[in-house]
Amino acid sequence: MQTLGSKMQPVLYLCLLLMPCLFLVEEAHAVWHGGISLRSQRMALLHWKATLASPPVQMSSWQENTTPCNWTGIVCTAVRHGSRMPRVVTDISLPDAGIRGQLGELNFSALPFLTYIDLSNNSLHGALPASISCLSSLLELYLPYNQLTWKIPYEIGGLQSLRVLELSFNRLTGHIPASLGNLTMLNDLIIDQNMVSGPIPEEIGRLVNLQLLQLSNSTLSGLIPKTLGNLTQLNILYLFRNQLSGPIPQELGRLAHLQILQLNSNDFSGPIPISITNLTKMNQLFLFENQITGPIHPEIGNLTMLNQLDLYRNQITGSIPPELGKLTMLNELSLYTNQISGPIPLELGNLLNLQLLDLSNNQISGSIPGSLGNITKLVLLHLFENQITGSIPQEIGNLMNLEDLNFYHNQISGSIPKTFGKLQSIQKMKMYDNKLSGSLPQEFGDLISLVVLELALNSLSGPLPANICLGGRLQYLIVFSNMFIGPIPSSLKTCTSLVRLLLQANQLTGDISQHFGVYPQLIKMNLASNRFSGHISPNIGACTQLTVLHLAQNMITGSIPPVLSKLSNLVELRLRFQSSHW
Ligand SMILES: *[C@@H]1O[C@H](CO)[C@@H](O)[C@H](O)[C@H]1NC(C)=O
Ligand SMILES: *[C@@H]1O[C@H](CO)[C@@H](O)[C@H](O)[C@H]1NC(C)=O
Ligand SMILES: *[C@@H]1O[C@H](CO)[C@@H](O)[C@H](O)[C@H]1NC(C)=O
Ligand SMILES: *[C@@H]1O[C@H](CO)[C@@H](O)[C@H](O)[C@H]1NC(C)=O
Ligand SMILES: *[C@@H]1O[C@H](CO)[C@@H](O)[C@H](O)[C@H]1NC(C)=O
Ligand SMILES: *[C@@H]1O[C@H](CO)[C@@H](O)[C@H](O)[C@H]1NC(C)=O
Ligand SMILES: *[C@@H]1O[C@H](CO)[C@@H](O)[C@H](O)[C@H]1NC(C)=O
Ligand SMILES: *[C@@H]1O[C@H](CO)[C@@H](O)[C@H](O)[C@H]1NC(C)=O
Ligand SMILES: *[C@@H]1O[C@H](CO)[C@@H](O)[C@H](O)[C@H]1NC(C)=O
Repeated sequence: MQTLGSKMQPVLYLCLLLMPCLFLVEEAHAVWHGGISLRSQRMALLHWKATLASPPVQMSSWQENTTPCNWTGIVCTAVRHGSRMPRVVTDISLPDAGIRGQLGELNFSALPFLTYIDLSNNSLHGALPASISCLSSLLELYLPYNQLTWKIPYEIGGLQSLRVLELSFNRLTGHIPASLGNLTMLNDLIIDQNMVSGPIPEEIGRLVNLQLLQLSNSTLSGLIPKTLGNLTQLNILYLFRNQLSGPIPQELGRLAHLQILQLNSNDFSGPIPISITNLTKMNQLFLFENQITGPIHPEIGNLTMLNQLDLYRNQITGSIPPELGKLTMLNELSLYTNQISGPIPLELGNLLNLQLLDLSNNQISGSIPGSLGNITKLVLLHLFENQITGSIPQEIGNLMNLEDLNFYHNQISGSIPKTFGKLQSIQKMKMYDNKLSGSLPQEFGDLISLVVLELALNSLSGPLPANICLGGRLQYLIVFSNMFIGPIPSSLKTCTSLVRLLLQANQLTGDISQHFGVYPQLIKMNLASNRFSGHISPNIGACTQLTVLHLAQNMITGSIPPVLSKLSNLVELRLRFQSSHW
């Protein structure tokens, strides 16, 4: 500043009166820098503004006869140039500004000192111009959440200083250019949520300083290049939701700093490479929705920092290794829809931070370990569609945060433990199609959050709990094909939340005209094959959503109330009373 400052001093006094001259002085000293003056930088910016469709308020300070260094979103920096320190435009930062226009209209040749561009979340359209490659000082380029189209220009490989390239949430197409492999200073490469296609160039493996690589949710295909194993500084690798295929390369086991690996929703096949069990910093391992085969290696139990292990919707075989019980940081363990067999290891009861445990739709056998009752943070427990036998351990009743318990389609026997009355958060309980017997604990009346109760196709007996709809939230009461006896639960009379009431094929008794009320949401009601008596109440006319009404094989008498003809949604009606009228 020495030279520039001393030359300015004489005129400074004048400038107090004549403010605009300040920048004229700067200009007069012709801050030439390879032919680029602050004036030509200003002109390039003003030209761009002039091409925008209604420039936003943020750009109202962008005016002729003012220094760009004072404009909103512009930062200048004094750079050494010989003996002088002229100020040059180094930053353009106008995120979320509603800028509508094309980057191609910005004359990058006139702005060679730019180190930082953030135009995230505007309405930039058209191509990412090849001319941007002349910004040899550019360190960070943020352009996510725009409407950029066309391919990423090959010339982008010329941005030799670039540390961050963020282009996500645009509409870029074409292949990822191999020239990106020249940007060896890159820390973050973020191109996810576009429409780029073709392979991941193996040259990406040259970006040895990468910490973040996000290429997810596009239409990339082909194999993961083995060269990605060279990115040993990588913390996060997102390749999810593409059409990538082939095996997961064992070279990924060299990414010793990896914390998040999301390869889900592709077409990967072959086994989980054992090498990734070396990545002991891993927090999230998402391999779900692929064609992965082979077993879950016991060594996965060495990834003790894991929060989420999601392997669902693959073709994984073998049993669940007891070593998974070492993953005590785990919040989510989701292995559903695979071909996993063998028992549920009781060691899973050590996963005291688990909130979600989903083992459904496998070939799991053996009984439910009582140790699962130790996982008191559990919110979701899905074991349905397996070959589980034995009875339900009473410890399951300790899961006071459980909202969703789903055991249907197994061979679980014995009675439902009384402790289930302590499942105070339970909203959905589905245990249909098992071999459950005995009566329902009257404590079910304490489950005031209950929305769904499905117990059909068992051998349950005794009465239904009177207070089953005490909380007033019950929508699905599906208990058909059991041996329930006794009256309709008294709380059902005012249970206006009901959507499906399927009580058929039991031995329930009582006068239906007295025990049922008005259900504005009710879609299906099946009371067939019980011992109900009485006549159909005209109240039924208020159940306007009703599509199915089955009352056959009971002892219901009387005539059909005319209101039934007003149920315009009704498609199935079976009455077949024992009365002689029919
Ligand atoms: C910069 O802008 C501020 C307010 O917008 C103004 O007060 C100041 O005079 C300007 N400085 C120069 C050098 O133009
Ligand atoms: C984008 O900017 C708008 C305001 O212009 C804001 O409401 C929105 O949250 C921003 N979106 C993102 C993803 O940052
Ligand atoms: C862009 O800026 C450079 C440097 O100031 C200048 O030589 C060139 O003519 C400009 N190009 C356009 C199209 O204005
Ligand atoms: C980038 O590297 C490739 C080799 O991978 C080289 O042929 C090319 O000239 C370089 N391109 C740029 C724009 O630097
Ligand atoms: C993936 O991108 C599509 C649009 O291209 C978007 O609708 C969807 O929400 C994205 N999915 C995820 C998981 O981000
Ligand atoms: C990168 O990885 C490939 C394949 O794994 C290997 O052949 C190559 O030598 C590695 N390059 C460097 C620079 O480490
Ligand atoms: C795990 O890392 C160790 C030490 O770097 C190495 O010797 C071993 O071969 C690796 N194991 C696998 C399966 O890659
Ligand atoms: C990894 O797990 C295996 C099997 O569970 C075990 O034998 C081995 O000692 C573990 N390795 C490390 C480094 O913890
Ligand atoms: C877990 O549950 C089992 C069986 O229910 C019990 O014996 C054990 O003490 C419990 N462990 C812990 C840590 O609570």
